[in-house]
Amino acid sequence: MISPGSIEQLLNAVVIEDVVGDYVSLKRSGSRYKGLCPFHDEKTPSFIVSPGMGIYKCFGCQKGGNAIQFLMEIDNMSYPEAAKALAARYGIELIETGNRDDDEYREKQKVRESLQAALDYAAGFFENQLHDEVEGKTKAMPYFKERGYTYETIRKWRLGYSPEDWEAFTLKATKQGYKSENLELAGLIKKRDNGSFYDLYRNRVIFPLVGVSGKLLGFAGRKMSSTDPAPKYVNSPETELYKKSDFLYGIFQAKNAIKKQDKVYLTEGYTDVITLHQAGIENVVASSGTALTPSQIKLIRRFTPNVTVLYDGDAAGIKASLRGIDLLLADDLNVRVVSLPEGKDPDSYCSKLGGEAFSDYLYSEEQNFILFKAKLLLSECGDDPIKKSEAIRDILQSVACMNDALKRNAMSQELARVCKIDEALLAAELGKLLRSKNLKNEQDFIKEVKQLTTASGIEFPREELTDVHQERALFRILLLHGDETWDENSKVSDFIIKEIKEDNQLLFNDEMCALLVAQIKFGVWDKWPGQSYFTQHSNADIASWAAGVLSSGYELSSAFADNFIHVKKEEDNFKNEITAVFLYLRKKKLDNLIKHYTLLLQDPETDVSDTLEMLNYLNELRSRVSKDIGGVVFTI
Ligand code: CTP
Ligand code: MN
Repeated sequence: MISPGSIEQLLNAVVIEDVVGDYVSLKRSGSRYKGLCPFHDEKTPSFIVSPGMGIYKCFGCQKGGNAIQFLMEIDNMSYPEAAKALAARYGIELIETGNRDDDEYREKQKVRESLQAALDYAAGFFENQLHDEVEGKTKAMPYFKERGYTYETIRKWRLGYSPEDWEAFTLKATKQGYKSENLELAGLIKKRDNGSFYDLYRNRVIFPLVGVSGKLLGFAGRKMSSTDPAPKYVNSPETELYKKSDFLYGIFQAKNAIKKQDKVYLTEGYTDVITLHQAGIENVVASSGTALTPSQIKLIRRFTPNVTVLYDGDAAGIKASLRGIDLLLADDLNVRVVSLPEGKDPDSYCSKLGGEAFSDYLYSEEQNFILFKAKLLLSECGDDPIKKSEAIRDILQSVACMNDALKRNAMSQELARVCKIDEALLAAELGKLLRSKNLKNEQDFIKEVKQLTTASGIEFPREELTDVHQERALFRILLLHGDETWDENSKVSDFIIKEIKEDNQLLFNDEMCALLVAQIKFGVWDKWPGQSYFTQHSNADIASWAAGVLSSGYELSSAFADNFIHVKKEEDNFKNEITAVFLYLRKKKLDNLIKHYTLLLQDPETDVSDTLEMLNYLNELRSRVSKDIGGVVFTI
């Protein structure tokens, strides 16, 4: 265990805004800093760092703590690991007292640590093969030189070489004491049928894959000869440490430049990133050749909202990736594109022009993504009116992804002008698309309310929580429509049962409802047993309750359901009712949360401004919920 004294000394030395600032782009706001929370998805900052108190706190997801806890959370470190990392950074010596044995977590952490050690060893091995062994010096070094990489670049990216021998690394590493199971789990070696092991990377130049915090996560090996029939890259498999969908190549080396320039260039390949860095353009990362994922977008967002995608000039490739870019728009990022001349990728074109001229090219050629897409798609339609209207619909899909109505309208007008399409027609089409999209947004909003009310962890007295009419109305729907379809994968009953199971604090007051909810929670009937199970139950109380609930009386007023989500298709109405009931139950919980925080304000220990901020957020949610359920109360 690390002595409490030296932890205190450490925390005093730590500059929390710097530690957090490595992961989150922070803006000063009074005596504090604000940014987008790295722990949950959000678009308006509710994540606060208070240098005075040495803490961070998110009012959205409630995560908070000191610098040690921040590193534990964001980098999956153990307590001692995080403390040691900070101690190294601030030059503090930690004094250890005794030994503390933790449980499972420590076990898992130990595995992670040994995978990390194996990877670190491997990186050294590959570098050594490149710089010090004849095979690497004569085969791989010329390859890098040929690509124009300087010695500094090769060292900066820790490039390496894996020899031709099938077992060069396996033998060396096991001899050094690394266990073959761990080397395998780290994605470095593979097992043969006879139980022996062989190297994953052979006869390839090596690109280490480094995570946002600077830790090594895996490797990619590129073949050196274009005539070699083997795949161009062998990449690290998914491991405990490397998750492809979370990874952006270069993010660690690029993050400071991205923050400083408030902009990131997005490329496809490792080599694009390295070449641009060498040319002095350091705010660049690569998605490793696949469509962007939501977690990669989240990672970008931590540092900047401005993304410029660099496309090579081949139209087929561009078209394939257009859809992925909508994800960026939907996240309120400002998306621009630069398209490169036919047959050039950022790597080759930057090498050709040199850093300065390439930089100029990027500036002068940069254009708005949607206009770029419009020109590209429309240029292929000629005079064919059907193709043209398809293209327009496709373009408007992207416009509809933007959440900001002002930006959306401006874009629609600009499109009308650039593409010479009637403005009113565009606006009408866009309206249609938005209506169907709103439905989905509504579902996301409900998810947010649900998360907040489920995760609050504050216990409230039961009678304040709910209202029996809503409960009975819910069970009436369950009895009547339980077997109908909710969506492609589930029935109405599946949905209701899942909602009830997921939220421990949705307490029910109606005695029979509460009993059924308890049965659901304890898994007495996981699958919906059907209406007759209740109406014909041997327990007379249950049977008569079911009959009572079914004989109407607890119908939601139609205004209630109509006000909520603006879909009036008759057969969908009971679905809206279900959503409305759950929303209503959660509104009650929001009310209680608001009460709770209002009371907290009277406590002298409370941080007033933090609490007020939380209250603001809760009130905002509550007013939207109220608006959605139209303030209509149940009547019987
Ligand atoms: N990629 C991959 N496996 C392949 C081909 C590509 O994983 N067989 C990924 C790599 O992350 C690569 C990116 O897709 O960096 C872009 O592919 P490509 O342009 O073909 O490779 P570059 O890395 O740019 O290599 P080079 O410049 O040598 O062509
Ligand atoms: Mn490439």
